[in-house]
Amino acid sequence: MKIAASILNCDFLRLGEEISRVQKAGIDAIHLDVMDGHFVPNLSFGVPILKAIRPKLTVPVMSHLMVNTPEKIIDKFILDSDGVIFHIEATDKVQECLDMINKANKLAGIALNPDTPVSQIHPYLNNVYEVLIMSVHPGFGGQAFIPESVDKIKKLKEMIRRAESKALIGVDGGVGLNNAENLIQAGADILAVGSSIFKSKDYADTIKKLRGL
Ligand code: DX5
Ligand code: ZN
Repeated sequence: MKIAASILNCDFLRLGEEISRVQKAGIDAIHLDVMDGHFVPNLSFGVPILKAIRPKLTVPVMSHLMVNTPEKIIDKFILDSDGVIFHIEATDKVQECLDMINKANKLAGIALNPDTPVSQIHPYLNNVYEVLIMSVHPGFGGQAFIPESVDKIKKLKEMIRRAESKALIGVDGGVGLNNAENLIQAGADILAVGSSIFKSKDYADTIKKLRGL
């Protein structure tokens, strides 16, 4: 199981230190929440922040694009990201978006909002590195986990097994010590965790507990 730290809720006044601290604490990846104020009712950060943190990174960075028409901006993020995740609801060019990321030899992810059925991902299961199940309505950190997400993970796991796909299952939103174990048992491979890490005193201890150590 991998843990990706969502930095949306970290202390932006000490962004560099926060990145170093959470990497030292043992996370497996940085999860960068890019928001355009249209696909989600919030505006976060873009390529300048990605470029600013890139030299500090000792782990992969996945750019989670919560943006409309991601096909217009994916190429801007590909260079400095190890993987790019876009939303299936945000484009009618899903295959083109996947092709852009895969052609650049980066990790391709597709995110599904809570109300989007897992069946929609079926056609892409053999072209995608990660399917990200949103367990909150995207746009903000610190929201409550949507319990129905557990069943959705189980359904997706079964679909991946039947399709003999190698796609990994990511979960994003409200993930913490109270639900991590359930999510892993349901079939999650990657947990995107924001506030549960950055609001805690000891990042390493929180990460150890999330891993069930
Ligand atoms: C929400 C983002 C999530 C969120 C995770 O739109 O995609 O990555 O920041 O933060 P927590 O763990 O605080 O819900
Ligand atoms: Zn995210």
